[in-house]
Amino acid sequence: APPRTRINTVSSDLIGNTLCVKGWVRSVRAQKAFAFIDLNDGTNLAGLQIIVHGDAPCFPLVSTLSTGCSISAVGELVASLGSAQPVELRATALTLLGSAAQYPLQKKRHSLEFLRSIAHLRPRTNSIAAVSRIRSALAMATHAFFSENGFVYVHSPLITASDCEGAGEMFRVTTALQQDGTPQPSESSQTEHSEQSDSTPRVDFKNDFFGKPAFLTVSGQLSAECFATALGDVYTFGPTFRAENSNTSRHLAEFWMIEPEMAFADLHDDMNNAEQLVKYLVSHVIQKCSADLAFFDRFIQKGLLQKLNTVVEKPFARLSYTEAIDILERANKPNKKGKRRFEFEVRWGVDLQSEHERYLAETHFQKPVFVYNYPSAIKAFYMRANDEDGGKTCAAMDLLVPGIGELIGGSQREERLDVLEDKIEKSGLEFDAYWWYLDLRRFGTVPHAGYGLGFERMVQFVTGMENIRDVIPFPRYPGNAEF
Ligand code: 4AD
Ligand code: MG
Repeated sequence: APPRTRINTVSSDLIGNTLCVKGWVRSVRAQKAFAFIDLNDGTNLAGLQIIVHGDAPCFPLVSTLSTGCSISAVGELVASLGSAQPVELRATALTLLGSAAQYPLQKKRHSLEFLRSIAHLRPRTNSIAAVSRIRSALAMATHAFFSENGFVYVHSPLITASDCEGAGEMFRVTTALQQDGTPQPSESSQTEHSEQSDSTPRVDFKNDFFGKPAFLTVSGQLSAECFATALGDVYTFGPTFRAENSNTSRHLAEFWMIEPEMAFADLHDDMNNAEQLVKYLVSHVIQKCSADLAFFDRFIQKGLLQKLNTVVEKPFARLSYTEAIDILERANKPNKKGKRRFEFEVRWGVDLQSEHERYLAETHFQKPVFVYNYPSAIKAFYMRANDEDGGKTCAAMDLLVPGIGELIGGSQREERLDVLEDKIEKSGLEFDAYWWYLDLRRFGTVPHAGYGLGFERMVQFVTGMENIRDVIPFPRYPGNAEF
C-alpha cells in the first residue's frame, strides 16, 4: 500500500491517485450496492467519505465496522457524486485495526459536561478536536510573535519558595506520603530524629522540599524579571497553579500563562505589546484555522467571526480605573423599580467583578478594553506606585474582553528600591524571601513592565467555548485530577 495520507491534505488535486488513509470510523451506512464510511483522522473536521462498492472484495468487512473502530483504507480518490463532499475514496482494500464495541461516543451530540467524564476519549469529538488544533496553533503563534519581536524565551521554575502575587494561593510541595497515603508527620511531631545531636537542625526530609518549604508557582513573573533586567525582552510560557477553591467557568487550579517582561518599558509600552500580541494571535487563527472557526461560529457562539474581525481591525479602548468606575456608576443607577444592574457594589476602591468587566467590554465598548491605574490597595505589591497621586493608584493594567472579562493582568514594576521595600513591608509579606528580587533594584535598576495572559481564557475567547474546562486537555479543578 502507498504511505498514509493525512486527510487534511486530501483535495480534488489528488483525484485519480491511489491513496491510503487511516483513522476512526464516525459512522457506517451500508446498502446492497454500496456502503459509505465516514472516516476522521483528527487532522481536520471534515474527514473523508469512503465508498465501498458491493462487488469490491472488501465489501463483506463493512458489516463488522462500527462507530469508533480504527481502520485503514486503500483506494482511488474520485470526484464524489454526493453534494456534501467534493471527493471520496473508492476503497479496494480495508483493514480493521481495532474494533470498538460499546463505544461511548455515538454519532449524536453529547453534552460537554458528559464529555468531561470521559476526558480520555473526548478529543475524538468535533468540538474538542477543533479546540485542540486551535490551542496548538495559538501556542505556536505565541512563540512566533515573541521570536519575531526579538524576545528571549525563558523557562521559569514550577517549584518555588516565593508567592509572586502575595495572595497565599499556593499549593505546597511535599516529597513523600506514608504507606497509608497520609502525609508524613511534620517536623514538630517527629521523634525518629531525636538521636541527632541537638546542634543539628531537625529537618523533616520527607515533608516539603528536602527540608525547605516549597510551592507550585502562581506566576513566572519574578523569574522573568531577573532575565529581563539582563537580556532586555523576555517571556515565559508555561503552567501555573492557583490553590483557590473556585468552581467557575473562568478558573482552573492549573492553567498556562504567557508572561512577557520588558526592560526599559513603561505601562504604555506594556499595553501596546499586549494589544499587538492579542491581534497577532487572533489574526493567525483567522488565517490558519478557518474551518475550525467556522464550526465554532455556527455551533458554539453566533457572531464569533465578526467579533474576532473587530479585534484585529479596531484599536482597543483604553481608560483609567477612575473613568471605568464613572461609567459603571452611571450604568448602575437604579431603574424605576429601584433595581440596579449589578449585583456587586460599584464605587472607587472596589475590585472589578466579572459582571463589571463584562459590562465594559461587551456592552459599553463592544471590544477589548484596557483599564489602567488601579487603586494600589487592591493590586499586587510589585506594581509601580503612581507619583501623581502620591501612590494612591499604581501603574497596573488589565485587558478585559467580551464574553470573558479579564484576559490579561500586568503592570509597570516598582523599580525604586526604597518604595518597593516599603510596599513589601506594608503588604505583610516575608521580607527575607525577596532579597534576590530586591537585588534587581540594588544593582542597575531600570524601569520595566510585563503582563500575564491567561492562555486558556485566550482559547475560550477565540473559540467561544463557555467553560474553561473544555479548552485544556485535562482540566484541574477542585476535586478533579483523574485523567
Ligand atoms: O492577573 P494575574 O494573577 O497576574 C499575574 O499572575 C501576574 N504575575 C502576571 C504578570 O504580570 N506577569 O494572572 C494573569 C492572567 C489573568 O488575567 C487571567 O487571564 C489568568 O492569568 N488567570 C487564570 N486563568 C485560569 N484560571 C485561573 N485560576 C487564573 N488566574 C489567573
Ligand atoms: Mg489579575
